[in-house]
Amino acid sequence: MIDLKEKIETLRRCRRAVILAHNYVEGEVQDIADFVGDSLELSIKARDVQAPVIVFCGVRFMAETAKLLSPESIVLHPAPHAGCPMADMADAAEVEAYRQAHPDTEIVAYVNTTAATKAHVDICCTSANAEKVLNAIDPARPVMFLPDQNLAANVSARLNRKVALWPGFCPTHNRVQPETIRRMRTEYPDALLLVHPECTPSVVSLADQALSTGGMLRYVRESDHRQFLIGTEHGILHRMKKENPDKEFIPVTPLMNCPNMKKITLENIADALENLSPRIELPSELAERARRPIERMLAL
Ligand code: 13P
Ligand code: SF4
Repeated sequence: MIDLKEKIETLRRCRRAVILAHNYVEGEVQDIADFVGDSLELSIKARDVQAPVIVFCGVRFMAETAKLLSPESIVLHPAPHAGCPMADMADAAEVEAYRQAHPDTEIVAYVNTTAATKAHVDICCTSANAEKVLNAIDPARPVMFLPDQNLAANVSARLNRKVALWPGFCPTHNRVQPETIRRMRTEYPDALLLVHPECTPSVVSLADQALSTGGMLRYVRESDHRQFLIGTEHGILHRMKKENPDKEFIPVTPLMNCPNMKKITLENIADALENLSPRIELPSELAERARRPIERMLAL
């Protein structure tokens, strides 16, 4: 393990690489990263970092976003089969068919979509800025918010604005049941309950806060509270505990695992740096179209 970390360190220096990691990857991967964050923070970092090589530790749509925003960099994705099942629930051809059938509708795509699908939408959002993005759209215009029906319904309820829902969801976050939340609330009456807005509206309605992963990390850091029930993927507990050793974090259920996030390992990071592969490559015409909705989001 020490050897592997040393190997990564040597290769990182030699390649002048920057390692970006999502809050859900394994703790040992987070620990060797230059920057760990949520989807929005990582997109901004990828745009601003200006490194010849970016190693993206997360699922594929995140690495694609890094490539779209940093087209001159070599973007390495150490586990090319680490996809996001929710992103695959909005197929590019189906989204284009929807657009043709609803020419007046503004199509908002959660950043958890493939680059191929982003090429057919108007604007992107993440869980951290979904409300801001929706608020920037003319209230008179119909909106389709895809692919996450849970995030869409949660944001729609908060803003009291109707949006059309796509039948997508995150299998990891959809697994949490309101009964589980009620039981955990009874068991830990003093804990604050934080969930991700990819959870169902019935779960979100029982929570104290529904926040992006970056939002949750900020919230627990700034809160005077000492005990928290956490309703999102378990990888986030690593940073929570590391940054707040005097506070207690309890997962609401052992079921919230995203197997794709765990496909990034120290071994495949070292291999990727050594071989400068596997890379994210996107056809230039597709990249140009897919970049537009992300840049529109970042310009808000
Ligand atoms: P964040 O944007 O909150 O990091 O979430 C990304 C994600 O994939 C949640 O499942
Ligand atoms: Fe996709 Fe859910 Fe995994 Fe996030 S946790 S990457 S939405 S499957």
